[in-house]
Amino acid sequence: MIQRDVIIIGAGAAGLFCAAEAGKRGRSVEVLDHAKKVGRKILMSGGGRCNFTNMYAAPENFLSNNPHFCKSALSRYTQWDFISLVAEYGIAYHEKTLGQLFCDNSAADIVDMLLAECTKYSATITTQCEIFQVEKSTQGYLLSTSKGEYQCQSLVVATGGLSLPKLGATPFGYKLAEQFGLKVLPTRAGLVPFTLHDEDKQALADLSGIAVDVSAGCQNTHFREAMLFTHRGLSGPAILQISSYWQPGEEVEIDLQPAFSIGDNLLQAKKENPDSHISTCLAKHYPKRLVQVFMERNQWPNVPVKQLNEKQISEIDQHFSGWTIKPNGTEGYRTAEVTLGGVDTNELSSKTMMAKNVEGLFFIGEVVDVTGWLGGYNFQWAWSSAWAAAQAV
Ligand code: FDA
Repeated sequence: MIQRDVIIIGAGAAGLFCAAEAGKRGRSVEVLDHAKKVGRKILMSGGGRCNFTNMYAAPENFLSNNPHFCKSALSRYTQWDFISLVAEYGIAYHEKTLGQLFCDNSAADIVDMLLAECTKYSATITTQCEIFQVEKSTQGYLLSTSKGEYQCQSLVVATGGLSLPKLGATPFGYKLAEQFGLKVLPTRAGLVPFTLHDEDKQALADLSGIAVDVSAGCQNTHFREAMLFTHRGLSGPAILQISSYWQPGEEVEIDLQPAFSIGDNLLQAKKENPDSHISTCLAKHYPKRLVQVFMERNQWPNVPVKQLNEKQISEIDQHFSGWTIKPNGTEGYRTAEVTLGGVDTNELSSKTMMAKNVEGLFFIGEVVDVTGWLGGYNFQWAWSSAWAAAQAV
């Protein structure tokens, strides 16, 4: 029987950071993971450069059934704390856009840093370890695994969400929560591309590969970023962001002219260049393929702008500012960056991440019903929630 003060299940972002921070407090810590390699999602995050935090991270950037839950952890271990750690290790980084911080070289720098911190504070890691059973006794928690029996006082569940099953994602954390009587809120894929109904898919097929600046919205939330047409549907940051707010059956509103007005430009062209054609005017703002597809779909004749009356101009303008599309669904966990829902925050202490009714059982990271926007927020939640638990285990 291997005895530790703390056992952490899951050697991802939250698990590794929690291990190091608990080790720093003098606790004996072991991390168990069923995968061969640790931190696989970190390694492939941010296109291999890991968007490890966001300078503007705040509770408003997170979705949860209880939007207040994340406040305590985020304020006690902030993005600036993690940035200091990254700087301490001499890891070069840069802001890409909107406060998003990426490694200059490789996401492996972050994994190496977490492993170095674990080594420094004597936290050990066992990979390829299947966990068969978890039981609670008067001595604490007993785990029977493919690498033997473990016993600990504090058990931290950091098994992440369901996205990218090929990287080792499992519902283990949710099942364990249920085993101990904790409520788990329904899960769904977030930060995920939309798929389209056949008719829209065919009509927009020629646009695959085109990116446009948009403001995409639903549920009174809007994101102003790029949208990408793909051969399956719609993607790009604006779409990934809004996908977390979208419910099946709903329409998504897409403003294709967030920074200018096609209506004003057509009116101006009517005065200054009345013989120019509509397509020429539109092509000043959009790729030609998009103009062609939109004109065909809406059966706008390509006449000189002088032939347009104000009503027609307003209709064209309205079309670009209020384009609506009803997605068929999403690409699901296969490509989603995160999982919405999970262990109900009402079951946990926001200060320590410990289950309110199960002494010594902690949940951190993505397995909890706290999901960040795209842009480094999800890793910040992993660091902040891990740190909060590490102070209490
Ligand atoms: P994480 O998924 O990192 O770790 C869970 C660990 O538990 C894994 O090591 C897994 O093997 C292990 N595990 C699961 N089941 C187990 C079981 N039954 N037994 C033992 N071990 C088990 N976020 C961000 O802020 N910036 C970014 O740039 C990106 N980029 C990005 C790209 C892609 C492609 C994806 C899929 C996701 C992102 N994310 C992101 C999201 C981010 O990766 C995610 O929110 C964090 O990794 C969550 O950290 P956790 O530690 O909670 O889970």
